[in-house]
Formats: sequence, C-alpha cells, structure tokens
Amino acid sequence: MIKVSVIGSGNVGFHLIKLFHNSKGIELCEWYSRTLNFDKRIKVVNELSNLNQADVYIICVSDESISKVSNELTFNEKLVLHTSGSTPFDAINKKNRRGVFYPLQTFSKSKDLNYSNIPICIESEDKNDLELLKILSNKVGCKFYEINFEQRKTLHLAAIITNNFTNFLFSLSKELVEAKDLDFDILKPLIKETVNKIHKLDPNEAQTGPARRNDSNIMKTHQKMLIDKNQKKLYKIISEMIIEKYGN
Ligand SMILES: NC(=O)c1ccc[n+]([C@@H]2O[C@H](COP(=O)([O-])OP(=O)(O)OC[C@H]3O[C@@H](n4cnc5c(N)ncnc54)[C@H](OP(=O)(O)O)[C@@H]3O)[C@@H](O)[C@H]2O)c1
Repeated sequence: MIKVSVIGSGNVGFHLIKLFHNSKGIELCEWYSRTLNFDKRIKVVNELSNLNQADVYIICVSDESISKVSNELTFNEKLVLHTSGSTPFDAINKKNRRGVFYPLQTFSKSKDLNYSNIPICIESEDKNDLELLKILSNKVGCKFYEINFEQRKTLHLAAIITNNFTNFLFSLSKELVEAKDLDFDILKPLIKETVNKIHKLDPNEAQTGPARRNDSNIMKTHQKMLIDKNQKKLYKIISEMIIEKYGN
C-alpha cells in the first residue's frame, strides 16, 4: 500500500484525488487546500503543518508556488513530487527527496477523463525513488515514461502547441461562425476527423488546405475576411509556414 497526500486543489489536484481514490493499493491520506474545506472522499487540511505521514506528497500548485509550498512543508526526507511540465525538480526544497510526476494531459475540473491512457512522465533525484514512482504509476493504471528535464520541457512545449494552441484556434473558429449565426457544432465532425486522421497518417502527410495547395486567391480572400489584425497575421504566418514546408 502506497500512502499518498495531494497538495493543491486546482484542476490537477482535483483529478489526482479522483484517480488515487479509485486505485487499489493506494491509500489517499490527505488533501491540502488553502480554500477547500470538505471532500467526502478524503480528509482535507488547510494548513501544510497539519499534513500527516505519507510515502509520497504530490504538490500540484501553480508552477511559481511550488518552491514556496515545498519550503513550508514541516517534514524532512520524504518523497515530494511536483506535477509541472516546465519546472526542474530542484524547485522543491532539498530538505525532502525530490521528483516529478507530470501527467501529460489537459485537466479541467468540469471535464471527466479516462485516466488509464494518461502518460505519466516520472523523474527522481534518487534511483530508489524512481522504482516507487513506477509502482505508483502502475497502481493507477497509467503508462510511465522516464523523462529527464530537457525532454520534459520539450514535451511540455509540444503539449502547449498541440492542446492549448489548437483549442485557441477552435475558439477563434467558433467566434467566426457564430458571428454569421452558425452553430459551432457544424464544425465538430471536421475537428474529430482532424484528430482521428493522425492515428492513420503522419501529420506531415495529413496537411491539406489552400496553403498546402498554394492557392493564393483563397488565402488573400480569407485574410480580407478577417477583420482583426492579429487574426490576419495569424492566418498569414501559419499559411507561409505551410507553404515553406511543402516547398510550393
Ligand atoms: N491543468 C493542466 O492541464 C495541467 C496538466 C499537467 C500539469 N499541470 C501542472 O500541474 C500544476 C497545477 O496546475 P493546475 O492546472 O491544477 O493549476 P490551477 O488549477 O491553477 O490550480 C493551482 C492550485 O494551486 C494552489 N496554489 C497556488 N499557489 C499556492 C500557494 N502559495 N499555497 C497554496 N496553494 C497554492 C491554488 O490554490 P487556490 O485554489 O486556493 O488559489 C490552486 O488550488 C502546475 O504545475 C501545472 O503546470 C497542469
């Protein structure tokens, strides 16, 4: 049985609580939150000094608060992890053993997730702790990857482009169609196919559209249709990058 405490009640903390709560071989000890007062699944504490014994403490607070929170922990020589894609483990105070448990997924409290296919990027200062992180990942049914900081930073960058940027483009498309009294739902089969396609085709092969065909008339028309100057710039730069890549 691995005893785990979760520190932080944002998007990741909320999902990790659910994940650990439903995993055999894991005892969820406590959940630290500075705002939440009660959760029926687990004991909530509002003071870091009230955290009790656990084998692993997982800090899932905003990146800039990881150091501060780790400094305020009142115990030593325990395994303390963070969940950030772009923070080295040495952001954690060295009075404890340090490591990383970075789930490569997008988490929002309001959206349920299938946890079983989330890749967990693990790293630890001490080799023995890595074994514990592997066991922990197995117990929650997730695949683990031993990833160093340089690799994790790159994965994080790729994740931002893949998820955050793509989602921003979805919201831009939504604004455009809704401005013409159209329902965003009409685009959803296309969105689904765009994502499904990369399971069959390399994204380099899956590229289509006016820039891929170097159809300058359509590209000019589209840029005229966009009123916002940043949207025009965005259309232009992505189109130019596609043209350059495919050598048209
Ligand atoms: N969201 C994702 O998709 C995702 C995916 C992978 C990894 N991560 C990483 O996971 C970590 C948490 O992200 P998140 O999305 O869960 O963030 P979030 O939703 O913004 O939540 C951050 C949490 O940190 C707490 N917090 C911030 N400063 C604190 C402090 N000084 N003392 C105590 N608590 C503090 C906040 O408490 P209050 O609620 O009281 O303000 C909040 O509960 C980050 O390192 C992030 O990079 C996020």
